[in-house]
Amino acid sequence: IEKTFLMVKPDGVERQLVGDIVDRFERKGFTLCEAKLMTITEDLAKQHYAEHSERPFFGELVDFITSGPVFAMVWEGENVISVGRLMMGATNPLESAPGTIRGDYSTTVSHNVIHGSDSFASAQREITLFFGEEAL
Ligand code: GTP
Ligand code: MG
Repeated sequence: IEKTFLMVKPDGVERQLVGDIVDRFERKGFTLCEAKLMTITEDLAKQHYAEHSERPFFGELVDFITSGPVFAMVWEGENVISVGRLMMGATNPLESAPGTIRGDYSTTVSHNVIHGSDSFASAQREITLFFGEEAL
């Protein structure tokens, strides 16, 4: 059965949205496999967002994701990678629909409350990075 990596970003933890976000995925029918509240180091942030290292906003992205605790999770369920992305809502705030997490809780691309793996390969990589191979 499929697994994905989801993470409530520092803005979501600070705004006390962890409970709501966990609740949404539980009510959908997904199963929480792993979870931890942690502060991401600069090194881990750079590895996690390596695909964006050449983007002009990379520095801001690393600063933001390391700015306070995140709530890192592994979830399991049928098509949880793509359905999880649908539940998060689009990256662009003009496209994240009401009813989605980003659509309901954020107005900006830089502080968008949640991260979710965007493919099977990303999910494998990110689960291993945050929880080790045992969590796959
Ligand atoms: P993640 O789940 O966080 O990976 O978001 P995503 O997959 O929806 O988007 P993507 O991987 O393309 O970008 C990663 C993150 O970079 C986004 O979630 C945004 O928070 C951030 N980001 C994207 N564009 C910008 C930008 O123009 N400025 C800033 N500061 N951040 C950006
Ligand atoms: Mg992404």
